[in-house]
Amino acid sequence: MTAITGIPLNLLRTWLPGNNERERPQIVLSTVHDGRPDARTVLLSEWDAEGFFFHTDSRSRKVADIRENPNVSLVVLWPGFTRQLTVQGVAEIAPADEQVAAYERRSPYLKALAWLNDDELAQLPRSERVARWEAFLEQTDVSAVEPPATWIGFRVRPTRLTFWESDPDTASRRTEFTHTDQGWEQRFLPG
Ligand SMILES: Cc1cc2nc3c(=O)[nH]c(=O)nc-3n(C[C@H](O)[C@H](O)[C@H](O)COP(=O)(O)O)c2cc1C
Repeated sequence: MTAITGIPLNLLRTWLPGNNERERPQIVLSTVHDGRPDARTVLLSEWDAEGFFFHTDSRSRKVADIRENPNVSLVVLWPGFTRQLTVQGVAEIAPADEQVAAYERRSPYLKALAWLNDDELAQLPRSERVARWEAFLEQTDVSAVEPPATWIGFRVRPTRLTFWESDPDTASRRTEFTHTDQGWEQRFLPG
């Protein structure tokens, strides 16, 4: 698998916020579930020249899908519908140190969520879910807590990157990069 280089790398640097910026982009992650597409929103935890990282619960449906078929797609939409990045790629488990570092950067709320948001809690009435949440916060220093065993991260290594841009003065246009043996092949496509 080849790293992202050249023009697509420069575009990503221009388009995506830095990894240390608090506000994380939302991405629609599509997997294949029993042969059918399945999509949901996750946070883009960070990215590098090797790919795009997201984190989730190892018991989730998306993780079962990826274990069965690692081919995924990602969509990032910019506010005001000015830009869209779509990615086809292959998901692999992120390095262990990256998974821990990503957890440490999560907000206290999202850290607690990773511990508590399971099937058992989801079945309870709201009052009990609130009580469980409060009990956890009373017993746990959330800012220092380690990731639960169910915390898992993936890196999506892109095979195709498509940058869509609106243009108020003319038609929207896509710049697509497909990975080939010769590197990243570029072409322009209509909106
Ligand atoms: C804005 C937004 C951000 C989300 N971020 C994440 C995330 O980073 N990780 C995650 O596991 N779920 C996240 N979720 C919840 C997922 O969309 C999804 O409901 C959950 O992960 C279960 O998905 P699955 O059953 O398809 O695996 C987010 C939801 C929203 C609306």
